[in-house]
Amino acid sequence: MSSASSPRTRIAGVGAYAPEKILTNAALEALVDTTDEWIRERTGIRERHIAADGETTSDMALVAAKRALVAANLEPSDLDMIIVGTVTSDTIFPACAAHLQHKLGAKGIPSFDVSAACAGFMYAMSIGDRFIGSGSHKNILVVGVERLSSVTNWEDRGTCVLFGDGAGAAVLSPSRGDGAGILSTRMHTDGSLTESLLIRAGGSREPTTPELIAGGHTKIKMIGSDIFKHAVRNLTSASLDAVKDAGMELADVDWIIPHQANMRIISQVAARLKVPQEKLVLNIERYGNTSSASIPLAWNEAIQDGRIKPGQTVLACALGGGVSWASALIRM
Ligand code: COA
Repeated sequence: MSSASSPRTRIAGVGAYAPEKILTNAALEALVDTTDEWIRERTGIRERHIAADGETTSDMALVAAKRALVAANLEPSDLDMIIVGTVTSDTIFPACAAHLQHKLGAKGIPSFDVSAACAGFMYAMSIGDRFIGSGSHKNILVVGVERLSSVTNWEDRGTCVLFGDGAGAAVLSPSRGDGAGILSTRMHTDGSLTESLLIRAGGSREPTTPELIAGGHTKIKMIGSDIFKHAVRNLTSASLDAVKDAGMELADVDWIIPHQANMRIISQVAARLKVPQEKLVLNIERYGNTSSASIPLAWNEAIQDGRIKPGQTVLACALGGGVSWASALIRM
């Protein structure tokens, strides 16, 4: 937990990127036994973006990062740290952040990944906030990026309809003392739920074998109902906690950016928080669940189209595999 009545870290710029190719529900009907109607009613998703052949996770992160740097009026050489939230790095190791750093030309600065699945961007932002707050670093690039299409089992209708690819980034810099910035953050993990959402094979527990590949165990497996239940409960409590930590009320919050996993989860969280639908920033219909890219993609969209304005307060919350979840309250 962290709290701050006056923010130590401001959001200097936000940027995002989604690949050009769009996969509609109708196209999925041709792949698995599903319907556009089922997907829309059960998830709220109509289409998702899918990376091009050869387009890597760090390629997507690079575009989002450059856009965030432009918004911050900074150059890659101004950065002194890169933190990437992702579970689909270009390589199992090194980190996606290392690939991104090389492509940005920001040689030498510490660059590492955070593995917190859909909460990855929120974790990265929270960690970056601590480094800025300590005074040791000045401009930190935090990224949420995922190429889930490469780990999706395209024969499993229970998961393949949910996910999409994308990237989002923010540059964190020291607060200017005008009240704008990160007011509070929360991070949590419940490691007893690791089996509810995971890629089973390819790690040290079950190194990849032809049998595991054939069984679909190198792709995402999920017990959807488990995740659903925990998402509703934990996103609600983490949201309330972030607001309380900042000494504010939910009524003071202008916008809520929930992780775009399932419209029914979002609606149930909003109902529990008693916040009207108009306060929610939503784009799940067009992107599906882009994991750690979800929050910055929606955030960027609402800044670009003028909904989120300077001085307004934004509450973001996300939950994913681990299960790990996190929230943050930010004044723009
Ligand atoms: N098309 C048609 N039918 C489908 C389907 C699809 N794409 N996917 C599952 N079904 C079927 C199931 O096989 C099941 O059929 P049955 O009753 O004959 O067994 C039926 O629909 C209900 O399945 P169920 O899993 O109970 O549906 P659900 O209402 O829980 O919705 C999810 C499934 C995955 C959409 C939902 O559980 C969910 O969103 N969970 C959270 C997922 C998530 O957000 N994960 C990422 C975490 S960040």
